[in-house]
Amino acid sequence: MTEPPGLLVHNAAEVATLSGGLRRGAAQSDIGIVDGVDSVAAFEGRIVAVGRRADVDRQLEAMGIGPQSLQQIDARRGTVTPGVVDPHTHLLFAGTRQAEVELRQRGHSYLEILAAGGGILQTVRETRAAPDEVMLSNARRWLAEMASHGVTTVEAKSGYGLDTQSELRLLRLAGQLADEGPIEIVPTFLGAHAVAPEYRGRDGASAAYIANVIDEQLPKVVEQGIATSCDVFCERGVFGVEESRRLLTRARELGLTPRLHADQLADSGGAALAAEVAAASADHLGGVSPAGIEALGEAADDGRPVVATLLPISAFYLDEPHFAPARALIDRGVPVAVGTDFNPGTSPAPNAQLALAFAVHRLRLSAAEALAAMTINAAAALKLDDSHGSIDEGKHADLVVWQPDSYTQLPYWLGANLVRTVVKRGRVIYAAQDRAAT
Ligand code: NIG
Ligand code: FE
Repeated sequence: MTEPPGLLVHNAAEVATLSGGLRRGAAQSDIGIVDGVDSVAAFEGRIVAVGRRADVDRQLEAMGIGPQSLQQIDARRGTVTPGVVDPHTHLLFAGTRQAEVELRQRGHSYLEILAAGGGILQTVRETRAAPDEVMLSNARRWLAEMASHGVTTVEAKSGYGLDTQSELRLLRLAGQLADEGPIEIVPTFLGAHAVAPEYRGRDGASAAYIANVIDEQLPKVVEQGIATSCDVFCERGVFGVEESRRLLTRARELGLTPRLHADQLADSGGAALAAEVAAASADHLGGVSPAGIEALGEAADDGRPVVATLLPISAFYLDEPHFAPARALIDRGVPVAVGTDFNPGTSPAPNAQLALAFAVHRLRLSAAEALAAMTINAAAALKLDDSHGSIDEGKHADLVVWQPDSYTQLPYWLGANLVRTVVKRGRVIYAAQDRAAT
């Protein structure tokens, strides 16, 4: 049976369009709900109409599309939003790290475990040893989980290879998964995730390894066209600002978009560096300084916004003393996005709804701010906001139908999957059996 070339979502209690582009400051809470708007039509993968049912029908007729010829999706008075965009994941890894939970409970810190050769390095050993088939089937399993929670686009970092061949392999696998679909994958090169085991223990290890990332790994990644961004773990005890600047400046020269793990655990000047190198995003920011917030604020005021991509699940999982100062960032006019940071060490959580809930209950965003953070602003963090992240005519038809009749319930529930239907490029990619209204 051939699928109809489009679909019509109707009978929604609310449609949060997120129309109008990147949100910052007070506008972060404007999610574009208009009274009476209850329908969205998609044709050939794009959104072609959004509005009241009668208006959408008329618009379709005017385009020569019979509304009844489209696949009908009754939202049953649920809420419709753009597909969720997860702007920060470490999707490609092998093995698990539950032993570290107890180590941390006994007082060993995350960076201490890494310095002792565990943490990221444990995952590097297991990832290097894992066959492609294992890597792919793990990733497919987690991608399906993400889709079932409303995600239609996901960023995926390398970073558990830490040598040229292994890093290239991870990005190649990301490309293979992107080709398979249905979730869209934005690949990021993170060769500078930790100093590779081969370099450790010698003088100047991190400088020598960064040189390898810049001179060997990066050019090959660029030559093969398998990543669109370059990331670095800029943190005291990992890579410093000077090393990170060298890498990101070179990456930009070679055509990749810079982004960075900035001030995750402590302030190390990462936010200011993000503004300096015109990064698309500065991620984590748990320890960002007032000067760092100011640097991001100035960048946004100057029309070259760096999206503050906050990852509250990992701060929770590491039992960090404080969460990122989301309110101060919003008050200073910095656009805020939220992601899962899905990874085996600090966020084994492929669940965007949990990230949304933590954004509210820990970062203290409003439900509306959090929804903007995981749709249009997350799309902007990936430089996809022209085509993704909002329900606007001409954009990709990536949609979620949620069971609750208001978006305000999305972060209210904890640990229950609220998704009814997920649409990617105009096709249903997930449908829950039955989710009655509460
Ligand atoms: O975003 N901090 C660096 N990277 C990841 C964790 C990676 C790991 O522990 O495997 C993060 O938290
Ligand atoms: Fe991360």
